[in-house]
Amino acid sequence: MRSQNLIAMSFFEYKDIVEEGDLVLAFISRNDIKPIRVTKNAILNTRYGNFLHNDMIGSPYGKQMAGAKGYGFIHLLHPTAEMWTISLPHRTQIVYTHDSSYIMQRLNVVNGSRVIEAGTGSGSFTHSFSRSVGLKGRVFTYEFHEPRYLEAKREIEDHGIDVNTFITHRDVCQDGFEIQVPENFHNGDNKINAQVIFLDLPSPWIAINNLNNVIDPQMKVGICCFSPCIEQVHKTVESLQENGWVDIEMVECRGKRWEARKEMVRDVNDVIKRLKDIQSRRDHGIESRKRVKLEQQEDKEAGVPRGFNPFGKGERVKEGDINYSWKDVTKIESEIKTHTSYLTFAFKVPLIIPE
Ligand SMILES: C[S@@+](CC[C@H](N)C(=O)[O-])C[C@H]1O[C@@H](n2cnc3c(N)ncnc32)[C@H](O)[C@@H]1O
Repeated sequence: MRSQNLIAMSFFEYKDIVEEGDLVLAFISRNDIKPIRVTKNAILNTRYGNFLHNDMIGSPYGKQMAGAKGYGFIHLLHPTAEMWTISLPHRTQIVYTHDSSYIMQRLNVVNGSRVIEAGTGSGSFTHSFSRSVGLKGRVFTYEFHEPRYLEAKREIEDHGIDVNTFITHRDVCQDGFEIQVPENFHNGDNKINAQVIFLDLPSPWIAINNLNNVIDPQMKVGICCFSPCIEQVHKTVESLQENGWVDIEMVECRGKRWEARKEMVRDVNDVIKRLKDIQSRRDHGIESRKRVKLEQQEDKEAGVPRGFNPFGKGERVKEGDINYSWKDVTKIESEIKTHTSYLTFAFKVPLIIPE
């Protein structure tokens, strides 16, 4: 059931204009994105001022909106699974897009896939799965912590992703994954028949024992277990092997920021000039160096430009200055910012018995 008087904003469909009842992500700054339901006469208070919901209604998505007092601004963004991940209210640790996108690609999650996820947590990955499996696919997600289950259920309904996502309040280690599958969620035989499994819980090796009756017996099934420490990976791999999973591989996603900038192309004539300069300094010795410094000081005081020296001290040149030639280069950060967990992948292939 969706909240009354609200038009559920779909994560599957995109539209151009903000309407009353829409879920809008108010981009205040990179680290401050506020999800809001656009409601008549409501006000969004931010450190950059107040923003009237009435002014949002009828505005195009993406619009930069000025505050009620004319200073400060926000952007009105359309919700997507990725934007939801960086703006959602955290109730647990969450899976971020660099991991979720990799996992979905490795497990071949496509339009129509049937997915099991446990635990739901803050619902970050649930939204990505829901969007990727589309209206033909189904997501079965499980959460054993009751307040988290209730909050996730409310959010799933409120965001309209309940069209393909079904949440169950359950301890999957103790009670397994089998459920009474709702009519519009099974594909003929009242079973889940999952082709993709994602486990983000403290003891995946126990939950793995309970998967046999809920996976698709006709298809290659992929699993990913998301564990922050290597001891957990070890136990997970043992359990996967005992349960007949093959092609087991552990992967870690490490994100690095690539800085793109321009580097000046140095001309061979610059090199020759520089070498001549060094040679002449050597020839004239320390006295001359002192004199050069004195001359430079006098020039500085008189406001005479120092001229550009491509090899070091001299006039600063702005990156990309059209009077010089440049090439595009990249530099990577040495520090890794994104290790969250080890990803253990495995697959199960149906046993084909020849007739
Ligand atoms: C790290 S959070 C999952 C975060 C989620 N992947 C996301 O992207 O938002 C782990 C969740 O698993 C739940 N959990 C732990 N053990 C469980 C179990 N045996 N059965 C069901 N849920 C469980 C916890 O309550 C917690 O909410």
